[in-house]
Formats: sequence, structure tokens, C-alpha cells
Amino acid sequence: MPKLIKTKVEMEGRTFEEYALVDADELPPWTDEEELGIVGFPTPRVDGAERVSGTAQYTHDVRLPGMAYTAALTSPHPHARLVSVDVSEARALPGVLGVLTRTEAHEQLQGGVRRMFTDQLRYAGEIVAAVAATDPDIARDAVALIKSEYEQLPHVVDIEVAAQPDAPKVHTNGNIFGGKPQIVERGDIDTGFAEADVTIEHTYRTATQLHSCLEPHGSVAHWEGDSLTIYESTQHVFGVRNAMARWLGLSQNKVRAICQYIGGGFGSKAGPGVNSVFAALLAKQIGRPVQFMLDRTTEQIGGGNRSAMVMMVRLGAKNDGTLTAMDLHCLADVGAYGPWLPFFAGPALMSYRCPHARSETLGLYTNTGSFMAFRAPGFVEGTFAIESALDELATALKLDPLALRRQNIPDHDQTNGSAFSNYPIEACFQQGAERIEWHARTNGQTSSHDRMRRGIGMSNQIWWGGGGPPAYATVEVNTDGSATLRTGTQDIGTGTKTVLTQVCAEELGLPLAAITTVLGDSGSGQYAPISGGSMTVPSMAPAVRSAARDARIRLLDIVSQMLERPVEALEIRDGQIYEGAENHGRLKDLIGKLGDVMIIGNGSRGPNPDGVTIITSGAQFVEVAVDTLTGHIQVLRVIAAHDCGRIINPLTYRSQIEGGIIQAIGYALTEQRVMDANSGIQLNANLGDYKLPTLADIPEIEVLRIDIPDLVANPTGAKGAGEPPIIPTPAAIANAVYDAIGIRIRELPMTPDKVLAALQRQ
Ligand code: MOS
Repeated sequence: MPKLIKTKVEMEGRTFEEYALVDADELPPWTDEEELGIVGFPTPRVDGAERVSGTAQYTHDVRLPGMAYTAALTSPHPHARLVSVDVSEARALPGVLGVLTRTEAHEQLQGGVRRMFTDQLRYAGEIVAAVAATDPDIARDAVALIKSEYEQLPHVVDIEVAAQPDAPKVHTNGNIFGGKPQIVERGDIDTGFAEADVTIEHTYRTATQLHSCLEPHGSVAHWEGDSLTIYESTQHVFGVRNAMARWLGLSQNKVRAICQYIGGGFGSKAGPGVNSVFAALLAKQIGRPVQFMLDRTTEQIGGGNRSAMVMMVRLGAKNDGTLTAMDLHCLADVGAYGPWLPFFAGPALMSYRCPHARSETLGLYTNTGSFMAFRAPGFVEGTFAIESALDELATALKLDPLALRRQNIPDHDQTNGSAFSNYPIEACFQQGAERIEWHARTNGQTSSHDRMRRGIGMSNQIWWGGGGPPAYATVEVNTDGSATLRTGTQDIGTGTKTVLTQVCAEELGLPLAAITTVLGDSGSGQYAPISGGSMTVPSMAPAVRSAARDARIRLLDIVSQMLERPVEALEIRDGQIYEGAENHGRLKDLIGKLGDVMIIGNGSRGPNPDGVTIITSGAQFVEVAVDTLTGHIQVLRVIAAHDCGRIINPLTYRSQIEGGIIQAIGYALTEQRVMDANSGIQLNANLGDYKLPTLADIPEIEVLRIDIPDLVANPTGAKGAGEPPIIPTPAAIANAVYDAIGIRIRELPMTPDKVLAALQRQ
């Protein structure tokens, strides 16, 4: 019988306690590198061909018979009460099949989601009504025929304004998220600052970054009787299934959520969106499938964002560099409906052994699109602040910045006293410093009068990424020697499907090509957690191993009976049956003699170790060139050293690290949402004026292979690699810019105008 366990999972700064069922024996840890023949080897994506040839079906590609297309009317005002909507002309347009307003939707929904469908509009671009029509152009024409009236209300789009007592109120009970600041503290900072020889204090600012997923949020809803199938561009098919069931008052077995491929999520696609609700209700209304993809403008406004922050950092230290106190304050923009507060203080509180520390985060509602998790939410922002400040402290103390960090690295979790499962940060520092030739840096002493100045900088990084239960998988072995791995997880573009196929093949003893992996469908595969928090591989790899191991044990039992050999002596390797050195031939030839039958293995993720903190860590070293005439910063080289436990696939590991760094370069240098304070309108809700990095901005990226299995964390030794690489890059760039020109830029993005203004002040 399955064992019931209580489990605690750390997800982006929020701790989730749940029950999980574990129904398999404990997995033996993969200790011996030599015994692994597929895991650890560079493996091209198992679904690469369909992705690049266009046969992979993304939500945007779904076409069902009779499917209707949609377009949305959005609020022209940043803050307003919807007085009336007249859809009669729109409805009369030939080709229009149905229209639904937000307030009509409100009446058909249950639970907390209803707050997104009231007559209050809290940002310009919020969806007011949607039209379903036989083609997308007719839908757009019909939107233009909707007549809507609004009572305009005063708005606020800036956090520093929203924090004022007399600011316009975004919600009736004010602009402060949760009504008060979120405080985390240890020790006593007054004592800490009294012990300090040196104190520094600076304020750092970051801009709002947009996820800019190539595939916008979208869904296709299809009813068969009282059952809903929803294709959704999502990071969590089971989350979509369960939320839609709750909101629509359906039982969970009446909803099936499918996401086989996704064009990016980065945290913004945790669950169903407002569009999914419109799609499901419109589909019901018109009796046809309905596709609702956000257009690019609506996506860039309402698809989520990394919130702008103003962060104050005050540090106290002894002359020898020992940190004595950290005082951290932050204003964070949560937009109109931000669901939680990003933990900007995490990097400082977790990375350094400082006995007296306090952080205070004030979340502020504004009349803008909502904050949503974005690849290491809070940590990219907070790392920019603390890692810039540490360099400023190093300058004040005349210490080497890397030495200052090394000196303050903790030997156990400073937040709760637990031991770390593993924390090989020194290997990351040492290898990264060697590659960039850290010893040769000029240390901010710029004497050059050349137009182009070069500098190098570094930043430390910390994050979670240990994953955990509940997570389940099934492996079916057919009598022709092929096998199907089924699980309800999803590959959000990271390579999960390939990694899990490797894990399954390794454990079964079959070649990679013998395995087909089916995922991304809540109707075909057991529960799997969200692909978020860098948790997918560490949660799923043990579950998949456990299922494959169960199937292998059953197979060997059958083989033993057929060969009349003792089961303990038999093993399966590369599809062959061995008894010691003796080869008993191909598995498929033997089990082919069975009638058509499936040997089914079931597996589950076991618990994380008690009282141990699982983290990922790393460091990046960056070289930049600053053009002192134009103010342009060019990143020349990034050396990335990240500990993510065992690397199951060096190719997907490398892709993750490169992708994170590129996204970080955009955040550091060019990306920013621009709001017009007077009108409350977002001025660059497109991919032309919102500046993502392109090929011309991408430097040489060198990914060092820190490959140290963390077998305390879980028996595969693997931890997540999705979020860590975006965390340290902006701080490392800012520190390199200081090294190059002796000027500290404390505001992201570090655009040429800011660099030039700082050079002129010098
Ligand atoms: Mo999180 S930003 O959903 O991985």
C-alpha cells in the first residue's frame, strides 16, 4: 500500500506543505558515474525534429472542426468603472457567433477568480468583452462595434507615487499589498551596525521587465457534453485542469488540459488566464470550440511582468570585510492584481553569513498589468542590489570583491540553521575566476583615456531548485521491446522531455530510441507539479526512475520465469538480457513470445530529506566594453559556473544557462516597460519598442561544467537549472562597468543615456 508522507516544497520563496503518496521502494542513489550510459551524455532533443519542422502543435496551431476565433475589447482607461456595454451591433455582424462581457462571465464563475471579472477596470488594456466569430478579422471588426461607457477614476502607475498616503486607490482598501510590509529579520541590526567599522547605504532601481513569450497566453476550449477539453499554453496542465474545474463548478474528471508544446512561459503561465475563462464560457455559449490567443499588445500589457523595484541597501562591516549588519528595504510594484510578493531579500539573507539582518518589502498595487512570477522572481532584482552593494563595500574597504564574498559565505542555512545538502560555491568561484583571469583586473582604477574601456566584474548567485513530491509517472513496456513513459508534467521548452526519456531508458536498460515519452496531457498521465521554481527535473526524474525501476523489476521477474534462471542474477542492459557476462539475447526476442500484454511500472517521487536545505548556487564573471562617447555597454564575455547537481543532459543544461544569460542581458541593458504617467497608457506594448536582446547583443558565453551530483537532495543527484543563470548577470555587468569606467550605475536598464549622464557628472 502507498505510504502517506507530509512534504514541504520551497517554490520561489513560498513554502508549500502538502501530502503525497509514495508507493515504491526507496530508490538507490545513482552513485557510480561509470554505470550510467545515457544519463550525463549530451543528448539532442527527442522532439527536436517536430519543433523545427513545424509539425509540433502549439496551442496557437490547434484547429478543431468548427472552431471559432476571438478578439477582445480592452479598457481604454487605466482606472474606471464599467457603466454599460452594448454588444447588439457586434452580435448582428454576419459571422459573429457569440459575445461575452466580463460582468456576464462574473455571474457564471465561482471562487476568487471572480475578482478579475467585476465592473472595476484597473489597467488600460484589461479585457472588457470578447467576441467569437468564424474568422479572426470578423471578430476584430465586431469588437469595433461594441459600445461601452466608463466612469473614469484617478489612476496611479508609479510605485513611489502609489506609496503616498494621498495617492489614488487601486483597490478600495488601499495600495499596500496585504495592508502592511513583509518583514524578515534575524539578530538585531542596531547591534550589527554598532559593531561595524564601515557602513554604506545606496538605493538601486530596476524597471518592469515583460516576459515577452514568443507564443502569447492562449487557449482552445472544446466541450463534449458536460466535459471540457482545454488546450492551454501553460506551465502546469494539472493546475489548469483543477482551476478550471473549480471556477466552472465541474468535477476534475470532466476537465482535460493539454499542452504538448509551449512557446515560452518563464513563470507567467502558471495557471489558466482570463482568456481561458472567456474561451470556455464562449464555447459553451455557441456550442463550438473557441480559440482565444492574446494578441501581442494584450500580451505585453496583461501577460505578466517582473515588477519594478526601488531597493535600499545598508551594509555594515568590519575593516577586514566581515559583514555585521544588513538592512534592506524595497518597494515592489505588484500591478493591478499581483498575487504575492517577490522575495527580493532572499539573495542577501541566504548567501551571506551575517548575524544581524532585516528586510522590509512593501508591495504596491498600481494601475498596470499584474506582477507574475518571472524566472527567479525577486532574486534577479535583489541580486542586482546586494551584489552591487557588496562591490561598493569592497571599494570602501579597499578589498577584492571576490575575496569579500568568499569571506562571508555561510556553512549552513542562515535563515533556519539547517545544513545545506550541498553548496559547492567555492568550485564555482575558483573555476570562474581562473577562466576570466580575475587576478589581472584593474579593480576600478581606470587611468585610460581611450574611448573604449574594458572591465570585468562578477556576481554570486543562490536559489532553490530541489523540487519534491507529489510527482508520479507510469512506464508501459510492450512485448516488442518498446516502452512508453507517461506523466502529467510538461516540457516548457527546457528539454524536460529529453531528460526524462534519458532517465527512463537508463533505468529500464533500453536504448533511448525504444522509449516514447507522453506528457503535457492531464488525461494521459498521473499528477505532476508545475514546471516552475526550477523544480521539474528534480521532482520528475526520481518519479520517472521509480516507475522505470518498477517496470524493470516486473520484466526481470518474467524473464527469470521464461529462462528458468534466478532473478537476482539477471539484468537488462541496452535491450539485452545478461547473466553476469553471459548474454541471453535481446529482451524483445524473449518477451515477444508472450501474448500481447503490457508490463506496467508505477512510480512516485519520494520525500526530501528532513531538516536539510536544498539550494543551487553559482557565480558569473563578465567582461564588458563601455563606449565613453556613446554610453553604449557591450557585454563581451560571460563565464557561467552554476551548480545544479548532476547534469543529466549537458546540451539542455547549456541551453538553459545561455537562455538565462541572454534574458538577463536584456534586463540589464535594454528592456523596460514604459508607462505614461499622465494617461496611464503603456507606450511600448509591442516587440519593436520594447527592446529584447538580439543576436548583435549576445556575447561569447562560456558555460563551465560544474557537475557534482547532490545525492542528499534526491537519489538522481539532479537539481534545477532553469532559473539560476538569469540571477547574477545584471549585477556582474554593473560591477564590470564600474571596473571599466569607475562609475557605478545603480539603475536598470543601464541604457546609454544613464551612462553618459554619469560620465558627465564625473
Ligand atoms: Mo517560476 S518564474 O514559474 O519558474
